[in-house]
Amino acid sequence: MAQRPYIVGNWKMHGTRAMLSEARAIDRAAQRHMKVEVAIAPPYTLIHPIHREAEQIVVGAQDCHHEAEGAHTGDISAAMLADAGAKFVILGHSERRQAHGEKDALIRAKADAALAAGLRVILCCGESEETREVGKAVAFVKRQLKASLPEAGEELGDASERLTVAYEPIWAIGTGKSATAADIAAMHGEIRALLVELYGDVQGNEIRILYGGSVKPENAAEVFATPEVGGALVGGASLTADSFMVIALAAAETEDS
Ligand code: PGA
Repeated sequence: MAQRPYIVGNWKMHGTRAMLSEARAIDRAAQRHMKVEVAIAPPYTLIHPIHREAEQIVVGAQDCHHEAEGAHTGDISAAMLADAGAKFVILGHSERRQAHGEKDALIRAKADAALAAGLRVILCCGESEETREVGKAVAFVKRQLKASLPEAGEELGDASERLTVAYEPIWAIGTGKSATAADIAAMHGEIRALLVELYGDVQGNEIRILYGGSVKPENAAEVFATPEVGGALVGGASLTADSFMVIALAAAETEDS
């Protein structure tokens, strides 16, 4: 059975407690659109306050450390996130790969740590503009994904439940320049083939592949109508309930059609 569309807001480094009212509005709206799984990954400081109040939305984090505990000043472990109410963690976002030098092997270790702590994982991948221009986008993304996915051990359990992939071309993030439907369909098709190869027919076909990169109310319907798109990872447009829920509604309507 196909899973519900998954619409995840990545708040990045935005939001103080003043944003709790926005989270409440998103939660209320999500209760009217149960065909869609709506989630927010706020900054660490808002995970617990949002989790405590939320009735419908799921709360997650934007990163975690790869070890369970230790002398790592300023870092947060997956178990701490789970303790605060997080149910998932976004890993391998290009902003972390670029600004923090995170490599595939580290992201894989983080994914394993997150699964061991009972969190679900949204694993991000995506090519730069230069890589796309020289025609190497597919090869790059497949290699990056293969090297960053968790070690499908026992911790993984049902991969389609625990794992989500997010394709986010770097040149489309925060630029207002979304990938075309044809580009998204082609890349998601390649990612699907890789997931089937790694996790088998049943689970490999059920793992949701999100698209991310300038998803907005104006282009959401087109994105969700694209083959192999199982939802969206939304940055800027997730910061207000108004724009975020228009996107969630577009996903619900695609389900109905
Ligand atoms: P954007 O960000 O929607 O602002 O382009 C997406 C993301 O980085 O997850």
